[in-house]
Order: sequence, then structure tokens, then C-alpha cells
Amino acid sequence: MPLLICHAPTGGVGTTFLAAHLALGLAARGHDVTAIDFCHADALKLFFGLPPAQEVPAMGGAPGAGVIVDGVELLSGWSVAQNPNFLRVLSRPGESPFADDRIVVADISSADLLIKNSLLPHAALHLCTLMPRPASLAALTKVQPGTPAIELDRTAFVLNQADDTLKLSRHSQIFLRELFGDNLIATIRRDEAVNEALASFKSIAKHAPQSVVLPELTALAIAVEARCGLSATVELPQ
Ligand SMILES: Nc1ncnc2c1ncn2[C@@H]1O[C@H](COP(=O)(O)OP(=O)(O)OP(=O)(O)O)[C@@H](O)[C@H]1O
Ligand SMILES: [Mg+2]
Repeated sequence: MPLLICHAPTGGVGTTFLAAHLALGLAARGHDVTAIDFCHADALKLFFGLPPAQEVPAMGGAPGAGVIVDGVELLSGWSVAQNPNFLRVLSRPGESPFADDRIVVADISSADLLIKNSLLPHAALHLCTLMPRPASLAALTKVQPGTPAIELDRTAFVLNQADDTLKLSRHSQIFLRELFGDNLIATIRRDEAVNEALASFKSIAKHAPQSVVLPELTALAIAVEARCGLSATVELPQ
């Protein structure tokens, strides 16, 4: 089962938010999913509605030892990623430390290029979050330095926090659609309910079931499924 890595060249764009919802969306479609938080900030759990004090077990323990939320197993990868042995295993082609019967969604901090570059060769897909902001778009050359972003065959882009009332956001969507075509696999609107849900220690689905982002996040999971040759394993409402 594939490793999906979530990493963007700039921070604060919604990578962790998308990693959580990609994991939840795939689990809702019947897949066995583990979400691993490789960030020191330990924020992935918040998007599952868990409080900051919640302990998340480190990866590498007994199978199924993670915290289970809405069908997703949640693990922390931060401490393991600091271990040189882990990076040594990743440096061997074909050798993966991840269970091969589950989809693994990895949330990686923008600054952590070591873990991103170590995981990338094992990944079926790299999901790169962009925001309709100059600093985010200007960093497109940094997605994989030395390779133009449009030539990256295992990278798909998501525009997050789009807002059609803002000219720059509308223009960014047009620009990215022209640049990436089908490699722009989703656009997610900005909705303050995302932050309100976090502040209430609730998932967005529970806090704001009418949020505009929920169907867009489902569409993202479906697009990733298609990109990775996966198909839903549960009967879903039409
Ligand atoms: N679509 C959205 N609508 C509204 N707020 C959003 C949306 N996506 C993300 N946010 C908010 O933006 C902030 C940053 O999101 P997130 O932590 O996922 O970004 P990140 O790229 O992982 O940041 P970091 O670099 O700190 O890891 C959070 O407060 C989150 O709630
Ligand atoms: Mg993050």
C-alpha cells in the first residue's frame, strides 16, 4: 500500500490540515490508513479533534498501537526520524519501514528537507500544498530544486485557502490550472470553521458539518485514490 507524503516548500499553508483530511477521507472510503506526524509541532492530532495533551504513540511499536480516530491510526514519527538508523533504512532502495498492508499518510514540516528527501523515494505520491499568496507561489521552484515543478511526475498540487472574493486568489487558481493541468488535483476553499473546529477540539466534520471544505476534501481523497490506482472498498452513497 502506498506511502503518501504531504510536504510544501513554505509553512503555514495547510499541509497538516490536508494530511489529516486525506487520511480521514481515505479511511472513510474503506482503506486501512495510518497517519504519521513527522513534525516537532505535533499538530496533526489537532485536526482529528484531539486535544494538545493527547499522547500519540511513536511509530515502530506493536501493530495497531496508535490512537485510532474515525478509522485512522495516528502515530508520531518525530522521535523515530531523529534516529540515524531510521534514515539509514530509508536510504536503502526497496526497503521500507512501513507496513505494506496500509496506506501511510506522512505529514512533514516544510523546513524538514532531510526527512522529506528521505521519504520521497518510497512515496507513491507527494502532495504539495499551495496557497494563493505570493510567498507560496514564488516557492514553486523549491518543490524539488533543480527540477521544474511541471516535470515532477509523482507530485500533485493542492491549492488551499482559496477565496473567490479575492482577485489574487481567483488569478492564482487560473494560473495554477494552466500551469499544472490535472496535476492540480484539488482546490480547497478558505473557511474559518477550520480554525473554530481546532479551537473547540473537534473535527471539522463534527464542528461544522455544513462546511464548504468537507466535500472538497472528499474530492481530494477521490483524486488521490485515482492517482494511486486505489479504489474505494466500501459502498458509498451516490
Ligand atoms: N482551508 C482552510 N480554511 C481556513 N483555515 C485553514 C484552512 N487550511 C488551513 N487552515 C488554517 O491555517 C493554519 C495553518 O494550517 P496547517 O497547520 O495545516 O499548515 P502547515 O502548512 O502544516 O503549517 P506548518 O508550517 O506550521 O506545519 C491553521 O490554523 C489551520 O487551521
Ligand atoms: Mg504542519
